[in-house]
Amino acid sequence: MNVYLDTASPERIRSADRLGVVDGVTTNPSIVADTDRRYRDVVETAADIVDGPVFAQVLAEDADGMVREARGYQDWADHVIAKLPATRAGFQALARLRADGVPSGTTVVFSVEQAVLAAKNDAAFVAPYVGRIDDSGADGVATTRRIQSVFDAQGFETEVLAASIRNTTQATTLYEAGVDAITMSPDVLDAHVDHPETENGVAGFAAAWGDRDPPLSE
Ligand code: G3P
Repeated sequence: MNVYLDTASPERIRSADRLGVVDGVTTNPSIVADTDRRYRDVVETAADIVDGPVFAQVLAEDADGMVREARGYQDWADHVIAKLPATRAGFQALARLRADGVPSGTTVVFSVEQAVLAAKNDAAFVAPYVGRIDDSGADGVATTRRIQSVFDAQGFETEVLAASIRNTTQATTLYEAGVDAITMSPDVLDAHVDHPETENGVAGFAAAWGDRDPPLSE
């Protein structure tokens, strides 16, 4: 399973990377717009920190523009994967980029049907938006599980990349379901680490040891 970090912050990418679990970085226009930086700078900096892919989303809304941007992103760093929305133009662009061998996949996915269209186009990934599917009144985890199960049944090689993850309960349910990949905010990743009982346990060991000499001083 791949774990990606959904952020434009170099500090948070570095911090998460030190945990040894970050396989790449995902970005989107909202995340980049929250910074004062150029999209290219965000992608280049992330690519300098992590060894794996950096996902960069197109801004154009027509297929020609999407193809142009996706091709252009390839000059920014190695292992850039273009994110194309699951729109009619996005699927057209995906088909053209596949023919050119430009790494790209489908994002803002809300249904199994959209995911299947992407997989039939050999998309590198499909990103169901778990939290936003919930917001729309459907079930984001269930939709993602169904996508994963269809891909497994059909032998599609497209990576199911669960996105828009709001909490660790969504994440752990998807781990149980065997999801291919997940992207999460640094806050959700931090919530994987922090547990009050672990803090209590560590404090208890320190208290039990008291003022004895540390082990390596003996
Ligand atoms: O990267 C895309 C996705 O994770 C968006 O999440 O929280 O804006 O729905 P959110």
